[in-house]
Order: sequence, then structure tokens, then C-alpha cells
Amino acid sequence: MRTKIVAGNWKMNKNLQETEALLSELSAMLPDSNAEVIVAPTFVNLQAAINSLQSSTMKVAAQNMHFAESGAYTGEISADMLLSLGVDIVVLGHSERRAYFGEDDALLAKKVKTAVEKGLKTIFCFGEELEDRKSENHFSVVESQLKNALFDLDASAWKSIILAYEPVWAIGTGETASPEQAQEMHAFIRKTIADAYNASVADDVSILYGGSVKPNNAAEIFSKPDVDGGLIGGASLVASDFVAIIAAI
Ligand code: 13P
Repeated sequence: MRTKIVAGNWKMNKNLQETEALLSELSAMLPDSNAEVIVAPTFVNLQAAINSLQSSTMKVAAQNMHFAESGAYTGEISADMLLSLGVDIVVLGHSERRAYFGEDDALLAKKVKTAVEKGLKTIFCFGEELEDRKSENHFSVVESQLKNALFDLDASAWKSIILAYEPVWAIGTGETASPEQAQEMHAFIRKTIADAYNASVADDVSILYGGSVKPNNAAEIFSKPDVDGGLIGGASLVASDFVAIIAAI
């Protein structure tokens, strides 16, 4: 049985005081749900988030991580640094990291490998751009993103992988993939994993959808059989919206 997950990617939003305020609002409003709820504040507020959520079921994730153990990588954050705060989930491969910071599949493969070895769970993001969809290359783009970054992992490593399919054209644009488009791609992803590994790895991996998920469209997207939850950007910054999305799963 795979886990239902709703994760909030706060991106570069919320200072310390705003982080604490949003987390206390969320803690007070969190609905009863069998979904795992994760929030990913910026690095500098991870410690505060861990402290704020000590008696909450909500979990804290980092938005990125370096692949190296330690060393001369000015400005970077290691797996051990995250673990030492009590953060054991990391978002890797977000399209903004790929587009603005040059992260490619080869680099992401190294980061995921480190995360697995260190015992962090990875929320691995991928998805096609608008031109890929227009030219009907979206399935092959997604297949190669998965293959290049993840398919060197052993089957056992997949226990710590959560996938987040985020079509780039739907991120922050207000344009959502239709529930049918999401289901079609998620089913394709699961089949690709089944072919590369086996049916049980494919059945057990949670595949989240991300891209303009809002309270008014979450329930329909989450109702699809291969959609196991969402990775939420803008709407995760507003407590009432994020809570409504959690309640929709
Ligand atoms: P939006 O929900 O703002 O479209 O962002 C999605 C996203 O990028 C989550 O990682």
C-alpha cells in the first residue's frame, strides 16, 4: 500500500517570523487525514520549523541538498547537516533548480544516490516543458528524466523515493494539467518503473502531482487512481488553502 502525501514547497518565501506564524496556523487547523503532510521551508528556517512541529504529525523537508559528504562547496548544504537538524526528507530536481541553477539529470543522479545512502527520503521532481507537450514528446522526456536520474538505484532504494510529476507549464501559471492528463502521465510513470524494476516497486511508489493545485481542483486530481497526492507551491503558503487541499485527499 502506498502512502498518500501532501507536501508544501514554500520555495523562497517566508522569513523566520512568517514561517513560525504559518506553522502555528497550520498546526491549529490541520484536518484529520491519513495522508502524510510535509512542509519544505527555506534552509535557514528548517531548525525553527522542526522546533515548531515537535508535537505535530507534520514533517519537515529541505528544498535541496549537495551530493558531497562535506568540503569546499561554499554556500551548499550536506545530507549530514540536514539529518543533524532532524530533517530526513529532501526535495530534489525541482524544475526551478533545473532551469535557474543548471541542475541536470547527471547531477541529480548523484544527489539522489547520496540521499539514499544517507537515509533521507527524496521527493524527486520532474516533468516536461510546454514545447515538449506541444510536440508530443512529453512521455519520452519524462521517461528519460526518470531513467537518467533514478534507474541506477537498486530496487530496495525505491522505498525512500517519492515522485513528484510537475509539468513545467503548470507551475505557478494557474494552468493545471487536467485530472485526465495527470492520470495518463502517472500511469505511464508507473508502467515505466514496472518495466525497469518490477510491479511491486511500481505499485509501492507514491507519485504526487504538482502544478497549480488549489482547493478548487485538488479533489478531482487526487481522485485519480495513480495520483497519490500533491506537491503544492503557491497554495501551501496560505494556511486555509493548504488545509483545504489536505482535506481533499
Ligand atoms: P504551484 O502550486 O505554485 O504551481 O507550484 C508547484 C510547485 O512547483 C511545487 O513544487
